[in-house]
Amino acid sequence: MTDKIFVTGNSSGLGLGLSEVYLELGASVYGLSRRGCPLKDGRLRDAKIDLSDLDKIGSELNALLSDVRDLRLVFLNAGILGKLRLMQNTPIEDLESIMVSNVWANKVILDWLIASGIKIDQIVLVSSGASVSGGKGWSGYSISKAALNMLGQLYAHEFPDSHLVSLAPGLVDTAMQAFISDPESIDAGDFPVFNRLREARGTDAMPGPAKAARKIVEALPQLLEYPSGSFVDIRELS
Ligand SMILES: NC(=O)c1ccc[n+]([C@@H]2O[C@H](COP(=O)([O-])OP(=O)(O)OC[C@H]3O[C@@H](n4cnc5c(N)ncnc54)[C@H](OP(=O)(O)O)[C@@H]3O)[C@@H](O)[C@H]2O)c1
Repeated sequence: MTDKIFVTGNSSGLGLGLSEVYLELGASVYGLSRRGCPLKDGRLRDAKIDLSDLDKIGSELNALLSDVRDLRLVFLNAGILGKLRLMQNTPIEDLESIMVSNVWANKVILDWLIASGIKIDQIVLVSSGASVSGGKGWSGYSISKAALNMLGQLYAHEFPDSHLVSLAPGLVDTAMQAFISDPESIDAGDFPVFNRLREARGTDAMPGPAKAARKIVEALPQLLEYPSGSFVDIRELS
């Protein structure tokens, strides 16, 4: 039987890399994003969905996953960075909007998956090292990923037949890192953590999306050794 994989946020970056790698491995990929996945493949089913529109997610998933009864893997990968700045300069509206995309949209998807009765082997919530590091300037992004980790811990109880982890994927050279590296977007003089990320770009410490996706695929069996609901940083795996 062909493995079926569900990936959110597969128009670019890590989600696109995961889609590419699983199509290469012969799986069927079900993906969603606002722009749509650029890959052309008969085994790709893709939907243009804006996850910040929480009320519409259910009907969109009904259409995308209508004929699916089992999923080998679910990657809740879609996410936004938001503005990186001091907390004292961060308006509540910005925090609310990043929480909608990075946390509440995933709650809506997880609720839909429970109600659907689809059999799921493994669920990966794509988190970040910033969920625990709390470096200066990570702002709403850190808060949202910390909340995502707890969302995963809580939902693990409600997916007794699936294994769930929140996974920090390590540094990946994507649009997010391009934004962080752009001197116009953040003053790294004020935020040393972003200087380190700029230095990592173009080195082995920050692989491209396909290479990072392959590392995740290889790490999946090891993730099963952790209690369901755990937060795991891929850089800490041997
Ligand atoms: N890059 C890194 O070093 C790094 C490190 C740690 C964690 N991560 C995490 O990895 C995940 C992927 O990020 P990336 O680095 O690959 O960045 P990216 O290239 O910007 O990808 C983000 C993906 O999320 C989708 N997305 C964002 N908002 C959406 C919305 N409202 N509705 C539907 N889809 C939405 C985007 O699609 P559309 O714009 O087409 O909607 C895109 O496909 C994120 O959760 C990020 O926090 C990345």
